[in-house]
Amino acid sequence: MKKFLAVAMVLVVATGLVFAGGAADTSGKAMVGLAMPETHVERWQKDGSALLEDALAKGYSAEVAFADADQGKQNQQIQDFITKGAKLLVIGSVNEGVVSVVQEAARDGVIVIAYDRLITGSKDYDYYITFDNYKVGQFQGKAIETALNLSAATKAKPKKIALFAGSPTDNNAKVFFDGAIDVLRPYVEAGSLVIVGPAPLRSGDAAFTKITTENWRADIAKTRMENLLNNDAKNVVLDAVLAPNDTLARAIIEALATDAKYPAGKLPVVTGQDGEAASIAYIRDGKQNMTVFKDTRNLAAATIELADALLKGNAPKIAGARLDTESYDTGKKKVKAYLLEPVIVTKANYKAVMIDSGYYKESEIK
Ligand code: BGC
Repeated sequence: MKKFLAVAMVLVVATGLVFAGGAADTSGKAMVGLAMPETHVERWQKDGSALLEDALAKGYSAEVAFADADQGKQNQQIQDFITKGAKLLVIGSVNEGVVSVVQEAARDGVIVIAYDRLITGSKDYDYYITFDNYKVGQFQGKAIETALNLSAATKAKPKKIALFAGSPTDNNAKVFFDGAIDVLRPYVEAGSLVIVGPAPLRSGDAAFTKITTENWRADIAKTRMENLLNNDAKNVVLDAVLAPNDTLARAIIEALATDAKYPAGKLPVVTGQDGEAASIAYIRDGKQNMTVFKDTRNLAAATIELADALLKGNAPKIAGARLDTESYDTGKKKVKAYLLEPVIVTKANYKAVMIDSGYYKESEIK
């Protein structure tokens, strides 16, 4: 017994040390584990810190981990959270390989919230919180429709576009693409918009995997754009490139800018998403057409509200989010999805949306 107590004391001290600064401690606070997929896309660092701050402010102990787009690493981080006694996990997963640890969590009675990305292939969780990602894609498609004046384009003089999508293992990549291509498809079918390179017309088409970008990596998108410019797009002038997020948009623009057909001021219309500081500067300077702002502060706040309700056994009422109980199926069950509103950002409104809202300081937009 004495020995047990001594070991317990050591553990308590160690735990106290490891979690100094607010994580699971001996104060009896319930612990929330925050598992983010990566940091090479800027937003996740903001998601992580906003979630942490909000969880601590609500009186939980909390810890955040980033997985470097490695599901094995994330599974280890999630297992650590479970071992430390987390009562709830907020998971922005890398890919479906997360399913086994979600199952472990469920077995231990730990609540899981899928964060931003749907966890497919699992029957072991009930809640998903994200933005209206189909709308994100629609904003991208509509921006191209407007900038190219597609309704006035003809089969005799069609506009030309190349298509890029996000990670093939991220369900969001499909949703973004479907939102965008649903706007563009009628023009493709009418012949007034020609797709240069692989041409899926739905995320379910076989050619979709030819336009995806493993783990949302900028270098992969850049290389693919360079290859297009040397092959299918060699003898055509592109009017637009559908890019799924800002990280990839800037990589694509970098490749385009090395092609003599696209001197400064004559770049194709390139879309984006996330409102990254560097892309806001590109939009200001006319290099990128638009982005879509998904305010991570709002997503984090709504998620911690949801977590708090679930941990207290209350019925969640999440301000600013729309509940959709029908559309999100993991393949094993329907989950309850809370959807927040994305905002389109262009040269006309970037100051109001990105700076006046306090998301960035003017000096961060270089
Ligand atoms: C997120 C995007 C992000 C992308 C790459 C998606 O799941 O919704 O905001 O750009 O992952 O990290």
